[in-house]
Amino acid sequence: MRIGVLTGGGDAPGLNAAIRAITRKAVAERIEVIGFRNGWLGALTGSWLPLNIQAVTGILPRAGTILGSSRTNPYTREDGPATVKRQLEELGVDAMVPIGGEDTLGVAAQLSAEGVKLVGVPKTIDNDLYGTEFSIGFDTAVEVVRDSLDKLHPTAEAHDRIMVVEVMGRHAGWLATVGGLAGAAHAVLIPEQPFSLTDLLQRIRRRHEELGKMFSLVVVSEGAKCSDWGAEVTGSDQVDEFGHVRLGGIGHRLAVEMEARTGFETREVVLGHLQRGGSPSAFDRVLATRLGVEAVKQVQGENFGVMVGLQGGRITTTNLQEIRGRTHDLDMELYGLTDLFY
Ligand code: F6P
Repeated sequence: MRIGVLTGGGDAPGLNAAIRAITRKAVAERIEVIGFRNGWLGALTGSWLPLNIQAVTGILPRAGTILGSSRTNPYTREDGPATVKRQLEELGVDAMVPIGGEDTLGVAAQLSAEGVKLVGVPKTIDNDLYGTEFSIGFDTAVEVVRDSLDKLHPTAEAHDRIMVVEVMGRHAGWLATVGGLAGAAHAVLIPEQPFSLTDLLQRIRRRHEELGKMFSLVVVSEGAKCSDWGAEVTGSDQVDEFGHVRLGGIGHRLAVEMEARTGFETREVVLGHLQRGGSPSAFDRVLATRLGVEAVKQVQGENFGVMVGLQGGRITTTNLQEIRGRTHDLDMELYGLTDLFY
C-alpha cells in the first residue's frame, strides 16, 4: 500500500510532528509513504518526495512543514480534480492523508465525494474546524499571544499607555479569547461579537479612573468588527484561491481612534505570522502524533472520507461531508470570562 501526505493552507507548528507520526506508523505497518510538496499543488503537478525514517528523524520540534504548503485549490484550476486523480493513479497512491484547515479539507471532502480515498487531519491556528476541540497549531499560537501580552504589560504600565494587540484567527475568536485570558488582557474583541467603540472607551476610561490603572491591554482579532465602522478591516482587496480576503489593519485603526478619543497614549502591536512560528508546544506535539497515527489506522481500516479529531479527550472520526460549511464555534461562555477583567 502507498499513502500520499500533504500539508495545505496556513502552516502551523506541529505539522512536522504529524508528518513524522504518519511516516513512523506507516513504516511500522510496512506501508509506503510519499509527501506531496506545497499542499494540493504538489498533487496537481506530481511533485513529491519519499517519506521514510531518515526523512522525518529530528523534525518533531521544528515549526513549519518539510513538505511546504500553499493555498492551491484544484477546483479553481482547469481539469484540476481530474489531474489530481490521474496523478494519484499514475503514482500508485492508494490513499491520501491531507493535513489542513477548512480550505484544504474542503477540497478533500469534494475529492472524497468523487471517489478519492482519504483521511483528513485537522490543522489551523484558528481552531475553527468542526469535528475537533483542538486543531494542530492552536495551542502553540496561544502561547505566542500569552508571551507577547506578558512582555507588553510592563511597558504599557511604565508609560501609562493602552497597547492594542492585533491577533490572527481570521473569522474565529478562539485565539484572541484563549490568548487574551492567558495573557490577562483587559479587553478582548472578537469577530463573533461586534464591539461598540463608545462602550469600549467607556470601559477603558472607567478602568483608568476608578481602578487608577493608567494602562490597558486590548486584544483585537484581525476579523473583529466595530459596529461604528461596519465592515471588517482588510489589508488588501486581493483574495486567495478560496476567496479569502487578506485581513489586517484593525489594530492600527483602533489605536488611532482610542488615542484621539481618550487622550491616552496608545500603541499597536500586530503579532501576525509570529503566531505561526515557534517550536510546537508539548500539547501540539502529542496531539499531532496521536492524530497522525490514527489517520494511518483509519486508512488501514479503509474508513475513508473522514477527519480524525480530539473530542472529550478521545481521538474520534467525523465524516468530511458533515464538516463542510460548519465551524467549531467559539465557546461564548468562555469568552464571557474576559468581561471580568475589564
Ligand atoms: O488560517 C490561518 C491564518 O493564519 C489566519 O489566522 C490568517 O488570517 C491567515 O492564515 C493568513 O494567511 P497567509 O499566511 O496566507 O497570509
